[in-house]
Amino acid sequence: MDIHFLTPFPEMINSILNESILSRSASKGIVKYNIYNLFDYADEPHNKIDDYPFGGGVGMVMKPEPIFRAFNHINNLIDEKKSVRIIFPTPDGKILNQKMAQELSTEKQLIFINGHYKGIDQRVRDNIVTDEISIGDYVLTGSEIASAVILDSVVRLIPGVLNNIESAKTDSFSSLLLDGPHYTRPEVFEGMKTPQILLSGHHKKIYEWNKLQRENKTRERRPDLWEKYISHIEKME
Ligand code: 6GU
Repeated sequence: MDIHFLTPFPEMINSILNESILSRSASKGIVKYNIYNLFDYADEPHNKIDDYPFGGGVGMVMKPEPIFRAFNHINNLIDEKKSVRIIFPTPDGKILNQKMAQELSTEKQLIFINGHYKGIDQRVRDNIVTDEISIGDYVLTGSEIASAVILDSVVRLIPGVLNNIESAKTDSFSSLLLDGPHYTRPEVFEGMKTPQILLSGHHKKIYEWNKLQRENKTRERRPDLWEKYISHIEKME
């Protein structure tokens, strides 16, 4: 997968990509990252990428020209035009979920457009962007961190990225229940014990215990997921 970032803060994206599984997937050749500095596509001599909003109001708006130019540059490099999604992370987008991450993980090309300031000229959103995505109901100072969140949720689903693909399948949200507790050695740590059942070797009882933990956690923390789980079970019966 080719992943392109258009941003006024390339160093911010760079620092995120140089760590962890995200960089490992690039070394493995599974993904390729390309970062484009928006200022490089702005008009000389001032290289302005934002301006005052028409109609007044607070804050600056990102100008359309640098973004359209950079986008056209990237688009000309892409041969498989069909399989490209242009993502604009924004708090007024659709809220990211696992299903969206799964869908995006099957694409050949992703382009992230990162804005800052108050917003971005609407003509960019109307004519370039295919997906407007929020990472939750709270506001961040910029969208680079949101891009990283979206990216991470997508890249880990690409085959070959995780060492054990099964670990993605049993994640919270892939099934309808939240994940349960995990323990490892030592059996007793500073007086804090591992639940006896996990040491019993009774696979069926352990399975039932885990399921109960997951159900209890889901009911308490996520009544919305619990509803779905219950109606799913009722349909199966
Ligand atoms: Cl995508 N951007 C910003 N700035 N804040 C957010 C967000 C995105 N998603 C949730 N809050």
